[in-house]
Amino acid sequence: MTTRTIGIDAIALAVPEGYIELSDLAAARNVPAGKYVDGLGVRQMSVAKPHEDPVALAVGAARRVMKLGQIDPSTIGLCIVGTETAVDHSKPIAAWVHRMCELGTACRSFETKHACYGGTAGLLNALDWIASGSARGKKALVICTDIARYQLGSPGEPTQGAGAIAMIISEDPRLCALEVGVTGSYTKDVNDFWRPLYSKEAFVDGQHSVQCYLDAITGAYGEWKKLDAETQPDATAVTRRLYHVPYGKMAKKAHRQVMAIEGKTDAEADQSYATEVASSLELPGQVGNVYTGSLYLAFASLMNSEASTLEGGRISFFSYGSGCTAEFFAGTIVPGAGAFAKALEIDAPLKKRRRFTIAEYEAIRRADNDADRRPVEAGNYKSAVAFTGVDKDIRQYQG
Ligand code: HMG
Repeated sequence: MTTRTIGIDAIALAVPEGYIELSDLAAARNVPAGKYVDGLGVRQMSVAKPHEDPVALAVGAARRVMKLGQIDPSTIGLCIVGTETAVDHSKPIAAWVHRMCELGTACRSFETKHACYGGTAGLLNALDWIASGSARGKKALVICTDIARYQLGSPGEPTQGAGAIAMIISEDPRLCALEVGVTGSYTKDVNDFWRPLYSKEAFVDGQHSVQCYLDAITGAYGEWKKLDAETQPDATAVTRRLYHVPYGKMAKKAHRQVMAIEGKTDAEADQSYATEVASSLELPGQVGNVYTGSLYLAFASLMNSEASTLEGGRISFFSYGSGCTAEFFAGTIVPGAGAFAKALEIDAPLKKRRRFTIAEYEAIRRADNDADRRPVEAGNYKSAVAFTGVDKDIRQYQG
């Protein structure tokens, strides 16, 4: 436990230039639009072209958080990239980020993986690094970057997405002070979702994965509640609750589960969902599942819409990674967060997007299938440069 204030100082996102409307996808798949839009709670879904890979997305978000958060690269002492859609079995995305964001050679950098929990692993590592004193006044850059892909026409297809979230973790954070050392963990070896080395698309036992998520939140929330009562008996009540969002309806189910532990009915849970959860689902509803970044996209959404009214308020975070592991923790929105969140222009990247037809989306997916097997083509290379705004990327895929 530490008495220092440590937490999320700044946040930014990067999304591909295109998206599809889920009502268009429903029409193409002969499914009632209501099943996707109301049944799953998904509206739009980002679609990444081959050059908009997890590296380009990570660099785009990282450069944005450093620019808008006014972070000098020389103050970053730790760079962690959480991902489950890495581009190499050995070289971490953090290595490219490190160079393309001009971080110093004394900055430690690496990649973390545990399905959608990989970003949280990075965040908790950064918090402990600062709390232990190892940071010696430096900040951490934690990035979550992923492209969620399931087979075309499968039940998972409407729950895809793509994007990256970059966060600066530091002392005296300007957005949210986190309660370091007070987390509820849960781990169990389950086969709910996996992606073997040979496959670009994830395999999933969909209904089982929903149950595994609910079991995990029951375990992690129970652990957190015990620890919270023991270590901070005077803490105020949580007023906003953030959940891992593979699709909007899952957050609603998670909220019902937490409220049931608190002795509330589903009807009561649905009532508090409107104030405690709904605003955090606005940006995820436009982007889809971004795996490691999903929980932090929910946080970005909350900061984008409610940061100024929440100053001084306590919020909770639930992270779930298939396979599975989970964590529940909390934090407080700091004074001044409202004005700072505005300066971060959190939702600006979403305003520049183009709506793809389903035919365009399917063509992109076909082109994507073997993108890793060929060197970057001249045209794609130019697009990647334009996307990241970096003119010295000489990265090549394995040929
Ligand atoms: P499905 O089986 O096709 O859908 O796929 P369903 O039949 O369960 O229907 C979904 C909902 O739509 C139901 O509501 C229906 O009643 C409703 P619910 O009972 O859940 O409240 N519905 C309708 N509503 C309005 N109008 C209609 C209509 N028809 C039906 N006409 C499933 C659903 C989630 C299984 C599938 O999309 C899938 O496999 N997705 C991928 C897996 C996933 O996202 N799992 C979530 C938990 S695991 C997790 O979060 C980890 C993950 O992010 C990965 C990681 O950690 O790395 C995935």
